[in-house]
Amino acid sequence: MSASSKPPVALLLALLCGTLLAGIGNGNAGNQHPAQTPCAECHLAGTDTNRTNAAQLTRSQEALCGGCHPGALTVAHPTGFPAARPLPAEYPLDWKGDVTCSTCHVTHGTQPGRLHGDKRHKALCLSCHEAAFFERMVDAGLSLQRSGHIAAGVEQLSGVELDPYSLHCLGCHSDKIRGGSVTVDQRGVLRHASGSVNHPIGTHYPGNRPSARFHPAASLRPQVLLPEGRLSCVTCHEGYAETHGALVMSNHGSALCLECHDI
Ligand code: HEC
Ligand code: HEC
Ligand code: HEC
Ligand code: HEC
Ligand code: HEC
Ligand code: HEC
Ligand code: HEC
Repeated sequence: MSASSKPPVALLLALLCGTLLAGIGNGNAGNQHPAQTPCAECHLAGTDTNRTNAAQLTRSQEALCGGCHPGALTVAHPTGFPAARPLPAEYPLDWKGDVTCSTCHVTHGTQPGRLHGDKRHKALCLSCHEAAFFERMVDAGLSLQRSGHIAAGVEQLSGVELDPYSLHCLGCHSDKIRGGSVTVDQRGVLRHASGSVNHPIGTHYPGNRPSARFHPAASLRPQVLLPEGRLSCVTCHEGYAETHGALVMSNHGSALCLECHDI
């Protein structure tokens, strides 16, 4: 039954109590996440959504969830593609056979992280991937196995004007590991151990302001990411990929540099 066909008293109550009233006793998503969004934005059946018709969504989950969680689409586990191999039933594909948000997440769940099952971190990854998949990576998969999104669970350091992805990278690379340390000094200059590329980091890209020195942000290739509009480790390096640390594009002939610098 839709709200409009209910008696006026119930409608008034529903308006007064808002999302608190919705869902009580009928087993639907109720006031749970994402409560700010009307059911019909995502579900064809609107408030009448139940377990049988819930999969009939108005758009793909990448579009429905990405508006509020843009980071889940970029520096994150790939989603929105058909699985080419069987996966454990615990992690359901959507109706078109795609790995998507609800493969790992219980959308209207209440547990922290809203994950299916009780596996976390490395154990979660190994339920779908062979150990060898990670062993091949230069960091043995350590940087990815914390979560499905590299910024998840990164502590924001007060006073440091860096995006969460850079903080994640520095969590390991500011310690001395084999390749030596990467530092960001007080002036916001990133210094690679090799000394080959030193560069400002954390500053806002000049964007579309008229500037003789930089190409407009909108013209940059999509893989040159500017999280929160800032220069980040993931501007130049791949974040969530098998090829840990690779550049986002070739720097042959300074091509990566010239993607931004208009000399
Ligand atoms: C932002 C989009 C979004 C909104 C808003 C939304 N849902 Fe969902 N809901 C989903 C997705 C995605 C799934 C998982 C679909 C699948 O399994 O294919 C889901 C699943 C469900 C399910 C199946 C059981 C479960 O918990 O997974 C029910 C029932 C449901 N939603 C009801 C509702 C109701 C009622 C509302 C409004 C109060 C609502 N939803 C609002 C996206 C949304
Ligand atoms: C209207 C904005 C909005 C939409 C749309 C939305 N979310 Fe969220 N989401 C939030 C907010 C705000 C939080 C943090 C507060 C909370 O936990 O409810 C959150 C938290 C989460 C969390 C983290 C829970 C935790 O404990 O760390 C997950 C996972 C999540 N959302 C997945 C999804 C998925 C999947 C979809 C699409 C079906 C989606 N969200 C759509 C706003 C949204
Ligand atoms: C391969 C599994 C996987 C897929 C696919 C996935 N996630 Fe996640 N996600 C995780 C894990 C693991 C966590 C960490 C949960 C925890 O706190 O333990 C997480 C955390 C989150 C969080 C909270 C932390 C943060 O980064 O803000 C949000 C929001 C979120 N996911 C949204 C999404 C959305 C939206 C999609 C689809 C575009 C998606 N996820 C697809 C595994 C996945
Ligand atoms: C529900 C199953 C599932 C889970 C859980 C899962 N993955 Fe995946 N992942 C896949 C599938 C399917 C692909 C596509 C490639 C393939 O078939 O291996 C993929 C692809 C990837 C890729 C991209 C590979 C490339 O082409 O660059 C990475 C990186 C990755 N996963 C890491 C992880 C990590 C880290 C975790 C744990 C946080 C995880 N995965 C958890 C199913 C899963
Ligand atoms: C969990 C720790 C950890 C995190 C987090 C991490 N790395 Fe690494 N990274 C390593 C290890 C270990 C190596 C192997 C080489 C070494 O010991 O220096 C490595 C190697 C690299 C290399 C050199 C690659 C090569 O082929 O020699 C680059 C570049 C790199 N990481 C960039 C990044 C970036 C960018 C991030 C953030 C998106 C990041 N790393 C996050 C541990 C980490
Ligand atoms: C402006 C682009 C740019 C930014 C921003 C950037 N890097 Fe790099 N990084 C490079 C280039 C170019 C190389 C050299 C790659 C090569 O020679 O193949 C490199 C090399 C590395 C290496 C290999 C060892 C070394 O010292 O040369 C590591 C590790 C690394 N980067 C980590 C990081 C981390 C962590 C961040 C963020 C704090 C970061 N990078 C930000 C462009 C960048
Ligand atoms: C994502 C765009 C982007 C890429 C890629 C990039 N730069 Fe920059 N670079 C900038 C911006 C923006 C500034 C100015 C930052 C500021 O003033 O805080 C800058 C500043 C600099 C500076 C400091 C001097 C000055 O003019 O402000 C040098 C040197 C530099 N870049 C060299 C390079 C080199 C070499 C590469 C390739 C390895 C590179 N950049 C890649 C955007 C980029």
